[in-house]
Amino acid sequence: MSSPPTRDDRFVFDYDYALPPARERINRYYLRDEEAVIDELIPVAKLDNAAAARVQAQAAGLVEAVRRNRRDAGGLDAFLQEYDLSSQEGIVLMCLAEALLRVPDAETQDKLIRDKLASGDWRGHLGGSQSMFVNASTWGLMLTGRIVGPGQDAVKDVGRFVRDMVSRAGEPVVRTALRQAMRIMGHQFVMGRTIGDAIKRAGKKNNRSYRYSFDMLGEAALTRADAREYFDAYANAIDVIGEARDPSQSIFAAPSISVKLSALHPRYEFANMRQARDELSVLLLELAGRARDRNIALTVDAEEAERLDLSLQIIERVYRSGELDGWEGFGLAVQAYQKRALPLIDWLIALAADVGRRIPVRLVKGAYWDTEVKRAQERGLEGYPVFTRKASTDVSYLACARRLLGSRDRVYPQFATHNAQTLASIVEMAGDNRELEFQRLHGMGEELYSEVIDEEKLNFPCRVYAPVGVHEDLLPYLVRRLLENGANTSFVNRIVDEDAPLEEIVADPVAATEAAKPKPHPRIPLPVNLFANRVNSRGVNLHDPAELAPLASAMQEAMRKEWHVTPVINGEKVPGHAEPSTDPSDNRRVVGIVEQADEAAVDRAVAAAAVARPDWVRSDAEVRANLLERAAALFEANTGQLMALLVHEAGKTIPDAVSEVREAVDFLRYYAAQCRTEFAGARSLPGPTGESNELSLQGRGIFVCVSPWNFPLAIFTGQVAAALAAGNVVLAKPAEQTSLIGARAVALLHKAGIPGEVLHFIPGRGSVIGARAIADPRIDGVAFTGSTET
Ligand code: FAD
Ligand code: 2OP
Repeated sequence: MSSPPTRDDRFVFDYDYALPPARERINRYYLRDEEAVIDELIPVAKLDNAAAARVQAQAAGLVEAVRRNRRDAGGLDAFLQEYDLSSQEGIVLMCLAEALLRVPDAETQDKLIRDKLASGDWRGHLGGSQSMFVNASTWGLMLTGRIVGPGQDAVKDVGRFVRDMVSRAGEPVVRTALRQAMRIMGHQFVMGRTIGDAIKRAGKKNNRSYRYSFDMLGEAALTRADAREYFDAYANAIDVIGEARDPSQSIFAAPSISVKLSALHPRYEFANMRQARDELSVLLLELAGRARDRNIALTVDAEEAERLDLSLQIIERVYRSGELDGWEGFGLAVQAYQKRALPLIDWLIALAADVGRRIPVRLVKGAYWDTEVKRAQERGLEGYPVFTRKASTDVSYLACARRLLGSRDRVYPQFATHNAQTLASIVEMAGDNRELEFQRLHGMGEELYSEVIDEEKLNFPCRVYAPVGVHEDLLPYLVRRLLENGANTSFVNRIVDEDAPLEEIVADPVAATEAAKPKPHPRIPLPVNLFANRVNSRGVNLHDPAELAPLASAMQEAMRKEWHVTPVINGEKVPGHAEPSTDPSDNRRVVGIVEQADEAAVDRAVAAAAVARPDWVRSDAEVRANLLERAAALFEANTGQLMALLVHEAGKTIPDAVSEVREAVDFLRYYAAQCRTEFAGARSLPGPTGESNELSLQGRGIFVCVSPWNFPLAIFTGQVAAALAAGNVVLAKPAEQTSLIGARAVALLHKAGIPGEVLHFIPGRGSVIGARAIADPRIDGVAFTGSTET
């Protein structure tokens, strides 16, 4: 039998997140105050008046040319503009696109179709666009896979058409048709099913003037098998591209490959830093070495903000590897919408100087904006990793562009944009030095770039990012493109709108940002301010080493403590029968000692509660609300300690522990707010005999709160806070498996000022202690595992 672990080796946190100073400077900008970052960027991005005027004129000329070039067009962009995401139907289409690719079984897909298609006003869009894509006959094409004559009544009203089809043919037919529609959309954005097909298509007459970077669809692998498959697809693509390339082309002119690290590893995440870094560095170096052997460039795509620091560790390791010496084909994408963009560019320039080899840098604005904003809100982060105004991202892009253009001895700049204003600014900043490349996505920006690559016109090279793969791997990429094309702030969306004034479309983002007050978007409040009537709970950014360091030491310290708790009656510790509370992941580990209440203690607690009851039920609701809010602040201040107990006494993972502390804090503030709206001030409500009863909203009396072990802090606190907020005196009985956590919550509530005679703590077995308390005739109500019974 193995011996029990000693206290020291039981609670060791594997903490290895110290940032080297070079990356620490980048990290400081992770969630930094938006205004402060913008103030630093504006002077870097700003052009003098004459240059700014030249940019506006050139951008306006480009927009006019694009509008001319696309007069007779009317493709998917018009469709996406008509059904953009501000319309209910646009959202329906987006949900369907996403869900049909994700929902695995036909029956659920059919239910979804029935549910979603019924909810749109499709008729309202007819005639809304000149585009042939938007009219009903095209819907007929999309839904049936064959052209239905525009004269047929059935297709004049898309809603009716769909409903008729559903009732005539049933959902399975519509499902197949909708899948076909998704394929049509996919075709717009995907270059080919195989790398061979894609290369063939790139060689066609109209495409030959472009350079290409092929991207094998597939990302966010969840299993080793998927990751291996994606790795093999990249390796094979590198071979095929290398085979097809024209040997006379330089590394910068030759076709290239774009790689997503999330495709190559199933646990490419900060929490798994060491393993992900070590394994991904090997895999990426293998792909880069292969690309070097065939002399085609390899670019690492930029993905979610939370992966940035880890991606830099991997990229730096590969870039510094002696195996790539003398080869300038290894590069990366940088997202300008991140507040860390400019310090990151500086870091890259310094890295290139140190190694003595140029790095190709693809500057993009960023394709995960909606996700970043939602995630930061959901996680209650201190701020956003991205800017909240579109113009701020544009300014950041221009500042980064200027830095890159000024360091062309260190980097080879590649500007990925479909925006004429951005493009014209770069042309202006580049001056006579034409050492740069523009880039666009396959299926977007053709009309703009026909002006740019034309030898008679701007005559800059442009590379097309060309996704390759099958329908099943398309979903995330397609959703990003639908979001990008459908967003009414996007340049590609605005340019299609003939009513949008030219000067607005090409407005100078620096001027717009200088004038913006406040600098952050007023409709996108900080996560902490999401709710009108209460402060949102603060989360922990588990991807930021700077936040993890103090958290880890608070957790360490908590686990060094000798936890020993007892019943608490009238604010005083009462002895009981001592039992160990153990760690459910290894029950040899004793987390602390809990003295269990006995039946006499319960009787004492009820008696004490009965004494406190008359005053507390009549207490001022505002006072109660303030006490609960004070408790919320104390819970937040003790996050590390509460998390340590949640991890060790309740077996929670660290992210779950953060969520649980936050939920408890939210409960406290939520009930404080409820207390104010429902109980503050005397209410004039009719009493039982019709008379006005000024005090009808008051506490019921004494509540026993019996909470479960699965949410030992959140539900425990929620039950207690609700009862206290309503003016009840409380006997709190935690789940016997998680009494240390309950004790800590009660201690913090007492510390916040909840009187000891109003909140009593009676740990013990439910069948003995809980049952005894509930059975007492002086009890007025019971909150039991989240539900309330009286
Ligand atoms: P614009 O319309 O001028 O800009 C749109 C962009 O502005 C949005 O995408 C978003 O980034 C930003 N934005 C929109 N609303 C707001 C707001 N309220 N606040 C702040 N910012 C806002 N993206 C990646 O993330 N990683 C990659 O590796 C990557 N690789 C690419 C490679 C190529 C060759 C190309 C062309 C694009 C790539 N992209 C990548 C996608 C790219 O991020 C989008 O296509 C790009 O943001 C569109 O910018 P734009 O200048 O064309 O359009
Ligand atoms: C994306 O996958 C193009 O890398 C960018 O959205």
